[in-house]
Amino acid sequence: MIGIFDSGIGGLSVVKELLRRHPDAGFAYLGDTARTPYGNKSRDTIQKYATEDVEFLLAKGATHIIIACNTVSSTALEALKEKFPDVVFFDVVHPTVDAALKRASEITGRKAKIGVIGTRATIGSRAYERLLQAGNTELEIIQASCPLFVPLVEENYLKRPETKKIVRNYLADIRQKQVDALILGCTHYPFLADLIRDALQKRVKIIDSPSALIDSIERTHPEILEGKGAQSYYFTDPSPRVQEIAQGWLRSPLKIERADL
Ligand code: DGL
Repeated sequence: MIGIFDSGIGGLSVVKELLRRHPDAGFAYLGDTARTPYGNKSRDTIQKYATEDVEFLLAKGATHIIIACNTVSSTALEALKEKFPDVVFFDVVHPTVDAALKRASEITGRKAKIGVIGTRATIGSRAYERLLQAGNTELEIIQASCPLFVPLVEENYLKRPETKKIVRNYLADIRQKQVDALILGCTHYPFLADLIRDALQKRVKIIDSPSALIDSIERTHPEILEGKGAQSYYFTDPSPRVQEIAQGWLRSPLKIERADL
């Protein structure tokens, strides 16, 4: 069974993409809504929380774990692999970087430029930057942390003029540098994809982690997506608000359960 976890509700963007392509796949989702956000926390704290999240999912019978959270993928992947050597982990950074490198390889005659946006912890970890550079030393990488995006998405401020302004502000440098591709390095950012696209030149390829991740699992471990399985949703703080947002995003009624870590 697949375990999927995130710092909160954002990882449902991965569940949404998974269900769009494999509606019967069996999984348990854990959202740590009691301790979200992770994106402003220290690496030690994020690793501690992520370890507890994984332990919970293993106790539920997970054998393969999707780290839907970009902050955890950027700061805790190696620590988790070391702590749980028998578990197969899928993070969101590697497949997203692969998609960006593919785009970069299409640029000829000049340096390709890749933008990366994420939480403070993700950008501060330089995980995207390091992997991009390992794949192509010629790249120009422009990064920006966008800490206001997560609360704006959670408040459903998706089409508001205030949000449009904030998006343009955060992306000013990335727009000015005329990047070839932009990595949306956070679970919540796909919900702002239209505004982000409008703030940049038309030719910029937008790379979001849910699609890149599911593409890569389909290629490497298609067997775990096959068949019919139970689908459970656990949250450390299963409040009515969480229920409302989760149902709105997934567009279906959900039974959410409390997770005690
Ligand atoms: N899930 C986090 C991420 O993808 C965003 C929310 C948070 O900061 O916890 O980086």
